[in-house]
Amino acid sequence: MFGFKEAGIVGINKRNLDFVLAHNRRKFYPNADSKLKTKEIALSLGLNVPDLFANIRYQYEVKQFEDIVQPYDKFVVKPDRGSGGDGILVIIEKVMAGYKKASGNIMSRQETRYHLQNMLSGMYSLGGHDDTIVIERMVEFDPIFDEIAYQGVPDIRLIVLEGKVLMGMLRLPSKASDGKANLHTGGVGVGIDMDTGITTTAIQRNRYIDVHPETNKPLTGRQIPYWKDMLDMATKMQKASGLGYIGVDIVLDKNKGPMILEINARPGISIQIANQCGLLSRV
Ligand SMILES: Nc1ncnc2c1ncn2[C@@H]1O[C@H](COP(=O)(O)OP(=O)(O)O)[C@@H](O)[C@H]1O
Ligand SMILES: [Mg+2]
Repeated sequence: MFGFKEAGIVGINKRNLDFVLAHNRRKFYPNADSKLKTKEIALSLGLNVPDLFANIRYQYEVKQFEDIVQPYDKFVVKPDRGSGGDGILVIIEKVMAGYKKASGNIMSRQETRYHLQNMLSGMYSLGGHDDTIVIERMVEFDPIFDEIAYQGVPDIRLIVLEGKVLMGMLRLPSKASDGKANLHTGGVGVGIDMDTGITTTAIQRNRYIDVHPETNKPLTGRQIPYWKDMLDMATKMQKASGLGYIGVDIVLDKNKGPMILEINARPGISIQIANQCGLLSRV
C-alpha cells in the first residue's frame, strides 16, 4: 500500500470543503443532479447521449409502464436524481415472467411496478424527495471491452477541475454489480494514465486486483479508445454546467462512439485509490 498522506490523497471532508463547496455554486447543482438536465446540456453542445425513451413523472403512469416500454427490447430505467447506481435497472430482455436484468435475474411485472413506485417517491434519490423516472436506450458497448466487462456497460469517470481533467478511471461491471459500473455496487475501478489513456492499476471493493474477477483477463495496459476526445468532452461539460468541480461519466457505444452518461457535483474519492495517486498532486 502507498501512504495516504504522502500521496496527497483528498479525504471526504477536504473534498467537500476545498473542492465541492469552493468550486460549485448552489444554483448550478440542478445541472448535475438531474440526469435529464445534463442530457439537455450535452445535446446543446453537440455531444452524444443515450436516447431518451420516456420520462415517468406520476404514480398513475406506472400502470402504463408495459405500454411505454413496448417498443423496446432492452432499456435502462433510472431515477432522474439518483447516484451511485442506486435503483437503476438495466433490462436486457423482456420475458414471459417479466423483465430480465443484466445479472440474468428476472423481475416480475409486479416487482417492477413496486420498484418504479419507490423510485418516484424518492427512495433512490438525492435528499429523498419525490423524483421522476428516466427510461433510456441501453448502450451497446464497444467490443474493445469484451474481455473485461461482465454483464453490463463499462464507463469512464473523469474528474474535472476548472477546465483541467485531473484524473480518470475505467469502471467495469462485475457479477456483484448487476449491470452497473459504480464502485460501491461491486464494480471494478481501473486507473488511467492521463497522457496516454492506457489503464494502470485496478481495485474492487478497495482491494488491488490484476485481473477481472469474472473474466480473469488482465486489467492493466489497455488503451481507452477516443481518449483525447473524451478529455475534451469532459471539459466542455464542466464549463457548460457552471460547476467548477465535477465527475463526468462517459460510455463508449459501439456505433456512436463516446457518449455523455451523466455528471456529478460530488464525485467519489476512490478514484485516487484506483490510480494510486492523490488528487492534490494533480491540482
Ligand atoms: N443507458 C445505459 N446503458 C447501459 N448501462 C447503463 C446506462 N445507464 C447507466 N448504465 C449503467 O449504470 C451505471 C450508473 O449509471 P449513471 O447514469 O451514471 O447513474 P448514477 O448517477 O447512479 O451513477 C453506469 O455506470 C452504467 O454501468
Ligand atoms: Mg454515474
